Amino acid sequence: MKTVLLTLSLAFCSCLSARSQELKLTENNIDEVLKAMTLEEKATLIVGETNGYWSQEPIIGKTESLIPGVAGTTQGIKRLGITQMALADGPAGLRVSTHRKNDSKTYYTTGIPVGTNLACSWNTELLESVGKIIGNEVHEYGVDVILSPAVNIMRSPLCGRNFEYYSEDPFLTGKIAAAFINGVQSNGVGTSIKHFAANNQETNRNNNDAIVSQRALREIYLKGFEIAIKESRPWTVMASYNRINGPYTQESRELLTTILRDEWGFEGLVMTDWIGQRNTAAQVHAGNDLMEPGSQKQTDEIIARVKSGELSETEVDVCVRRMLELIVKTPHFKNYVYSNTPDLKAHAQLARKAASEGIVLLKNYNETLPLPLTKKNIALFGVTSYKYIAGGTGSGDMDRAYVVGLTDGLINAGFDISKKTSDLYNSYFEFRKAQEQNGRAPELAVSRDFINRRAEDSDVAVITIGRNGGEGSDRRIEDNFNLASEELDLIDNVTEAFHIKGKQVIVILNVFGVVETASWKGLPDAILCAWQGGQEGGNAVADILAGKENPSGKLSMTFPISCYDHPSTLNFPLSNNNSRGRSNRDEVQNVDYTLYNEGIYVGYRYFTSAQKEVSYPFGFGLSYTQFAYSNAKLKSTKDGFIVSVSIKNIGDKAGKEIVQLYATAPSGSLNKPAMELKSFAKTKMLQPGEIQIVSLEVKNYDLASYDESSQAWVTDKGTYTLHIGASVSDIRQEISYTLAKSESVKCNDVLKPTRKLDELKIGK
Ligand code: BGC
Repeated sequence: MKTVLLTLSLAFCSCLSARSQELKLTENNIDEVLKAMTLEEKATLIVGETNGYWSQEPIIGKTESLIPGVAGTTQGIKRLGITQMALADGPAGLRVSTHRKNDSKTYYTTGIPVGTNLACSWNTELLESVGKIIGNEVHEYGVDVILSPAVNIMRSPLCGRNFEYYSEDPFLTGKIAAAFINGVQSNGVGTSIKHFAANNQETNRNNNDAIVSQRALREIYLKGFEIAIKESRPWTVMASYNRINGPYTQESRELLTTILRDEWGFEGLVMTDWIGQRNTAAQVHAGNDLMEPGSQKQTDEIIARVKSGELSETEVDVCVRRMLELIVKTPHFKNYVYSNTPDLKAHAQLARKAASEGIVLLKNYNETLPLPLTKKNIALFGVTSYKYIAGGTGSGDMDRAYVVGLTDGLINAGFDISKKTSDLYNSYFEFRKAQEQNGRAPELAVSRDFINRRAEDSDVAVITIGRNGGEGSDRRIEDNFNLASEELDLIDNVTEAFHIKGKQVIVILNVFGVVETASWKGLPDAILCAWQGGQEGGNAVADILAGKENPSGKLSMTFPISCYDHPSTLNFPLSNNNSRGRSNRDEVQNVDYTLYNEGIYVGYRYFTSAQKEVSYPFGFGLSYTQFAYSNAKLKSTKDGFIVSVSIKNIGDKAGKEIVQLYATAPSGSLNKPAMELKSFAKTKMLQPGEIQIVSLEVKNYDLASYDESSQAWVTDKGTYTLHIGASVSDIRQEISYTLAKSESVKCNDVLKPTRKLDELKIGK
């Protein structure tokens, strides 16, 4: 009898193990696989595979195991057919190792313009196309999820990572991000929209507590994420390093579950930004499904906390399920045989187009631009003219196969560059090299005599002002937001000398963020804000200078007269004092915590409400042609309205116009900004005389403000004035919309400020 039982039970066991050996993850058996997983396996799956990433210097992209150079990989579980995933940066193009061990091939990807440059195109179709080529490269290089787009709001022009970000306005941010994500994900690969949320300064970013009112959070800092998430369903969201109103965002259930999932309906996965170990149990409890870059200690912590009862296995299961749901969608899971040979040539063409569409023409006195072919010989001033900047630094940087600088771009377009000027700068660079002076060269003080001679023997002068920086530190006002005295002298001297000879001067801003312009913009004849255009940046600028492309970008942020005009400057770390590593110290304002006292009055919401003059307003940008606006009409829809407006090219060159719709709300119980962007559209290329009727759709929900007293989005009844224009301060048509009954959408009373705010209120 015993023998029979033993035989039977042995047979049963081997049958079980055979069954589980056969059990392999498919799209349809997630529940079953989850059930078959041990606690150890679960805790392994939701922690990234460090693989030395953090143990070396904190340089992005050390993971070698799956695809060299990616920022992170997840761990697979072979017995259950659970594959690994490769997660790679970033916003300026896919970041993988271009040169690999024992391999003579190269693995370059396309260096696209930085986020700000892309956003200033205001062209969602273009963003979708850019997303498509990036997604194709992600797919063809064997990556599963790209850690992009970065959509934090430009609360202050001083934030070091603004170049990765899109705008000071959440609506524009959300629409641009949605288009990009839709483009990328159409390839069957994922995105990670980041950094969720309020990562608006780099100073002490790992610990800074953003103290923000619930209203400002909802309307400004979360809105862009809300729009993008609802309109494009990114596969993943990356929780930022900082805290909001107390807890770390990565440990905030109110943020990651109540708002993100319960209110917005997000069904994807949340991963941490690359922090290393924090309170892993709190992260799991919050709804943070994947810890990156991951360490064994975190896996051990999860196991221990579950065993001690501090963390429930059901909560771990929620994260595991989301991991499995994501994994089954990935190319690695589908065994996609990637080629490593995307069509980089074709992609470069689009990168060039995208860079030029986001260039903003700020000034064009007397039609200086485009440069006629008779003005071929350019005296090129400024160190950045010769050391052109393709993109910012940190994880939003990448290894480009080449960078077309300004000199190459101008030569490609058929211009001649004054040899005497380029010789001068080249000998300056040689001198610095001989002295072993590394880093970006400070501006060269060029003698007035030299400039006078160039004003004689050149046709026109171009001066480039450059700014670079990035992840990990913020900008200073002096010599960074403001121009350095050498730069101002250069602009002064060159414009004076060339103007005496009746010759023109063009300033190009090759910058990663807003710079002061008010004090010197009267001097040059033309100013072009070229941002950082990626690998084709120099060609893109030359296309505009030569008139091959008609500029059609507009500012996605305000250029104030002084940096101090932004109310956020009062509460921003101006000295870039990280004060990390100091123990037992008192908390430092703007370092340990930052009071968002300006509330909803960020960017143009402040300038239009306070009626404060700016240097260049939000939404501003010139073209080589002009557009007339007429015949604005409004048609109600079941949940809002559509405004149509007729745009006519009344100049003599083909061009595109960005049409913006701002709303002024009726007065009600809440303090409201004077103007808020509610819709925009970019026309197609309009030939001279051609007309396009543009449609601008707005939903009642889009008009709502967040009312803290009822914890609801409330669209007040009454009459809204709709301003349709070429920028926030160039309104061409007005029309009104009347809502008969107030509407409201109830939300949860979460993320309350933990410190007292003294919020700015304008108007009431
Ligand atoms: C950055 C993220 C990036 C990650 C991985 C972090 O330091 O904040 O934007 O995706 O590193 O490289």
